[in-house]
Amino acid sequence: MQIPLFDLTRQYAQLRNEVLEVVDEVLSDGRVILGPWVERFERELASYLGVKHVVGVANGSDALVIALQSLGIQPGEKVVTTPYTFFATASCIVRNNAIPVFVDVDANTYNIDLNQVERILKNDPSVKVVIPVHLFGRTVEPNELIYLKERYGVKILEDAAQSIGSEGKLQERIVKSGTFGDVGIFSFFPTKNLGAYGDAGAIVTNDDEIAQTCRMLRQHGAKEKYFHEMVGYNSRLDSIHAAILLVKLKHLDNWTARRIEIAKKYGELFEKLKLPIKYPKVEEKGYRYHVFHQYVVEFETNEQRERVRKHLTQSGIGTALYYPLPLHLQKCFAHLGYKEGDLPISERLSKTTLALPIFPELTDEEIETVVKTISEVL
Ligand SMILES: Cc1ncc(COP(=O)(O)O)c(C=O)c1O
Repeated sequence: MQIPLFDLTRQYAQLRNEVLEVVDEVLSDGRVILGPWVERFERELASYLGVKHVVGVANGSDALVIALQSLGIQPGEKVVTTPYTFFATASCIVRNNAIPVFVDVDANTYNIDLNQVERILKNDPSVKVVIPVHLFGRTVEPNELIYLKERYGVKILEDAAQSIGSEGKLQERIVKSGTFGDVGIFSFFPTKNLGAYGDAGAIVTNDDEIAQTCRMLRQHGAKEKYFHEMVGYNSRLDSIHAAILLVKLKHLDNWTARRIEIAKKYGELFEKLKLPIKYPKVEEKGYRYHVFHQYVVEFETNEQRERVRKHLTQSGIGTALYYPLPLHLQKCFAHLGYKEGDLPISERLSKTTLALPIFPELTDEEIETVVKTISEVL
């Protein structure tokens, strides 16, 4: 039996008719970049998220570069972020000629440690922006982020590439990740909880000026074609992707519910077998604080993880390492002067965590097989 880490074909089998129908509509209409489909998607996503503006762009990485530029970051200013994330979270800082400052993550949530962020903000006024990542689909605490924003005057760019639909509490209000900072970004890379059939992304904000700047930047800095107010990018959302994302958006909450169910089932089986694994718990908080884009478990040692991983691979079960080398130790960031041991939690997690199969169409039987196969090693 083969159990993939992620499988797009099962979802397509269910959506085939709906998807082909809208693709045919777009192609028959002939307007294939931006246009009415993108505008409709931007409107419907804004309504789903409860945010004023959505700006569709070519991918999540561009969304980060453009969103950070829209905050007015200047060369040489500092931006605080996590090293335990996908590369684009930090490369957008360098792309804007700013300087990344890496802060370690919390050992339980794997999200950036906001106490450590506060210590830096207290001492360094050249930090202008903080980029938290709602990693694997878990919301970074909105109240704590907004406290930092108000207390230290930093701007918040939320990297919500992995967390569409996840929620948190801002005072007593339930808010969705990506919507409570100054600006937020999403990726619709095909494997994301809401995925296109190619690259796509979005920037979201409640700020009219930021939204307008992002709209200009995605089209070579022009409000009016051929009249350039800023130097921007070619980073537009294609109509086919927007149309497909509109189809998929209707299913997102059901898919998220199934992801949470899968996470619960994994946890119950680990408990039952008393396996020495640290796994993300599913707590009843009354809102979706975690949408399980990835289901990542932690082993006691690197040797144990490697043994489990090898056995799963040999048994036809897909796994992945998110992320095998934390960003502060990447070759391209060597000039920043970080060394091994500087951010110990991220460094440990890169050696001990393993992503297990999770996608809404994964069956209970497959989950049982994954857990049984792990237990054969432990
Ligand atoms: C945390 C994070 N940020 C940014 C990105 C970049 O998104 P994209 O792949 O759409 O460029 C990703 C996606 O891979 C991601 O996981």
